[in-house]
Amino acid sequence: MANRKIGMWLYSNSGGDKIAKKIISKLKERGIDTLDNVNLRHAIAKNGNILHEGTKLNKLDLFFSYNAGEQTQYQTYLYQALNRVIPMINSYDSFALTEDKFHTSFVLRNSGVLTADYKLCHRDDGHQLKKIIKKWDKMVYKPTDGWGGVGLTKIENEASLDMLLPFLNQMDLRFFYVEKFIKYDNTDFRVDIVDGEFVSCYGRKASKTDWRTNVTSGGSVFMREANEKLIKVAKKACKACGVDIGGVDIIYDEEKEEYVVLEVNGIPAFATPEQEKIGLNFNDKKIDLIVDLIDRKTKKK
Ligand SMILES: Nc1ncnc2c1ncn2[C@@H]1O[C@H](COP(=O)(O)OP(=O)(O)O)[C@@H](O)[C@H]1O
Ligand SMILES: [Mg+2]
Repeated sequence: MANRKIGMWLYSNSGGDKIAKKIISKLKERGIDTLDNVNLRHAIAKNGNILHEGTKLNKLDLFFSYNAGEQTQYQTYLYQALNRVIPMINSYDSFALTEDKFHTSFVLRNSGVLTADYKLCHRDDGHQLKKIIKKWDKMVYKPTDGWGGVGLTKIENEASLDMLLPFLNQMDLRFFYVEKFIKYDNTDFRVDIVDGEFVSCYGRKASKTDWRTNVTSGGSVFMREANEKLIKVAKKACKACGVDIGGVDIIYDEEKEEYVVLEVNGIPAFATPEQEKIGLNFNDKKIDLIVDLIDRKTKKK
């Protein structure tokens, strides 16, 4: 069989460099060469090619993009172009979908996956928010392209919405995206899925002074078992979004008594060396599933 070659861009902090080395050596055992550290920021498109340090990326058998969710317009523009001619993990479409909270919730709902109730309206229709908060009691304003809990604003009552609206109106927003504030125990589940298979589950707990579980908002990671229901929800969410690799954030809605998907992360982190010490030992399983996936997707017919 002809030699296969893939391009890879994987984060190098928090133990990512070691993960990359393992993936590269396991791919090598299968006769797959890897061009590492291919950051599209440094690529140039010319005629039919996308060139990175002399390599025609469009001639690779696959591109594995696993670095920043937050990419510049240039990087995502090339990501999209490249994926028109070679397979990518995750596909550009699924990557772009998971980068947007409204699109994700919309797709999940249409696939029968429970999300937080939400509403999206035009910036001039702020009165719509007044209507919905009457029904919901509390809500969360979310930037649709945010991460790490940044910019999320909990709106506790109509009076605080009245205070907030003038500020939102001053900002150059195109629309408002709000979710019903879900009553939950301030912990969540992160369920990792690769190629439709369950990889791992862990939990995050918000700090005493915050309602967000994000580590960047002071939350802490803890060991937590999955159950059949959670795994089913996570698999269904990944399938609906079309991601080969996904980390699904789930909380338990105490009113509905159901699991609710908050978001699907298209670049869910491997366990860091510190997290491995507290018992999160899923990295090898995840690496093996990713290697299998790349192997299968690059098999020449
Ligand atoms: N509708 C909601 N009700 C209650 N808490 C929420 C809701 N949405 C988000 N949160 C809390 O805020 C955190 C961050 O929200 P999320 O939608 O995952 O955005 P981010 O991309 O910033 O992580 C969640 O982990 C959860 O703790
Ligand atoms: Mg999140």
